[in-house]
Amino acid sequence: MKSLSVLSVTSELFPIIKTGGLADVAGTLPFALAREGVKVVSLLPGYPAVMRALKRIETIREYPDLFGGAARLVSATAHHVELFVLDAPHLYDRPGSPYLTPDGRDWPDNARRFAALGRIAADIGQGEVPGFIPDIVHAHDWQAGLAPAYLHYGDVPRPGTVMTIHNIAFQGVFPADLLYELGLPPGAFTMDGVEYYGQIGFLKAGLRLADRITTVSPTYAKEIQTPEGGMGLDGLLRSRSKDVFGILNGIDESVWDPSSDKALAATFTRDALGQRSVNKAALQTRLGLDEDPDTLLFGVVSRLSEQKGLDLVLAALPSLLGGRAQLALLGAGERMLEESFQAASIVYPGQVGCVLGYDEELAHLIQGGSDALLVPSRFEPCGLTQLCAMRYGSVPIVSRVGGLADTVIDANEMATASGVATGFQFSPVNLTGLLDAANRAKMLWSDREGWRQVQQNGMAAQVGWSGPARRYAKLYHSCLDET
Ligand code: ADP
Ligand code: GLC
Repeated sequence: MKSLSVLSVTSELFPIIKTGGLADVAGTLPFALAREGVKVVSLLPGYPAVMRALKRIETIREYPDLFGGAARLVSATAHHVELFVLDAPHLYDRPGSPYLTPDGRDWPDNARRFAALGRIAADIGQGEVPGFIPDIVHAHDWQAGLAPAYLHYGDVPRPGTVMTIHNIAFQGVFPADLLYELGLPPGAFTMDGVEYYGQIGFLKAGLRLADRITTVSPTYAKEIQTPEGGMGLDGLLRSRSKDVFGILNGIDESVWDPSSDKALAATFTRDALGQRSVNKAALQTRLGLDEDPDTLLFGVVSRLSEQKGLDLVLAALPSLLGGRAQLALLGAGERMLEESFQAASIVYPGQVGCVLGYDEELAHLIQGGSDALLVPSRFEPCGLTQLCAMRYGSVPIVSRVGGLADTVIDANEMATASGVATGFQFSPVNLTGLLDAANRAKMLWSDREGWRQVQQNGMAAQVGWSGPARRYAKLYHSCLDET
């Protein structure tokens, strides 16, 4: 296949700036695509954390007035990766997360902040950076959703465009009167353009105007085409169903490698699982849990939000902790959930331990030290933590939705008999479902041989990027064949 080049437009990228799985995907997929002959350069907003990480900065273009202030496009490297960064202090030089003020509200000018990202992506797509003319502009989530729109309405030849949905719950919807200010033509404000129920929809625009649409698992690709899963965009997605593809995420197998992971108390392999007990003991100590190798230790590593279904874990605690089982939770997010887990650690001393906040190293220790990882999401486009769990020999207990349904093989009778089970699934996503799966896990836990088999199956599962990267490369080529 002919080699091609892609501009990946993303609002986060691991290890520079991360709030969730999008950063992991945007940070890792380019390496896997390089092995498929696809050169990817990413475009990122110049938040303080990004500007601090940059080396070898070179100004490529200056913008005297980009949505209210001076800005420049720079090329640079960070962590040995080649990047484009939009250095626009009036938009990005602020404390807080990429999207929220320090007190947790959306920045009031998010429309402008991310329209700027799309606008500059389109400029690069239209060949304004000498030496890098992408064949494809690949936009991730609503923050990049206007890139395909600016390219569509531009009056010069454009590259192919791909819009990827990582989470349809976040759509970037803003007042219609911004249309002119964002530099979109009046004719764009139609159902076939950026208009979305009387407002401007950034994700909607990308989904309407990109050549191809992808999302991060085959099951989620189906779910978002239903009224229950589409969150208002299902009709549009159904109308484009021949252009909608579900490509599973992978994880970075060098970052997530239990045989060399420095965040673990002891490294281990599939054939030498005994060392996992050292991690279990370290995790129990770290979270103030009773040090007991024989008790079943559930882990959680998650954003604490409605999506993730962790209120079900709270409701399940009295029964979940039966038989002296334990819970180690690492999470950050909604205050109610944070406070409730904190309270649970007081109600169940030695049995529930939680760390509230973001801690990359502890996330690794939980994966390498817990026996089972709970992921009871109400919806889950793909989910990465269950993939990390499998790779680290923690048995995932997941709701049967989205990418969780596609990546975990339930330990039902048939799968167990054929020796292929990798975890537990439950449906519907409610308390009874979760408890039923947890009880099945407890039963298997008492059969150490059976448990080890499921752990080892998970550790042998393909959770890397090589398969998915091949699919993206094919999709890019198919897109070019048409344009
Ligand atoms: P989402 O993107 O919806 O949050 P994913 O499972 O796709 O869910 O990705 C979550 C990523 O963020 C994983 O890499 C996970 O390890 C990480 N993560 C989530 N919460 C935390 C936390 N509190 N501390 C460290 N890492 C976290
Ligand atoms: C989103 C989804 C998650 C997915 C991640 C990366 O944050 O919630 O399921 O794994 O994006 O695609």
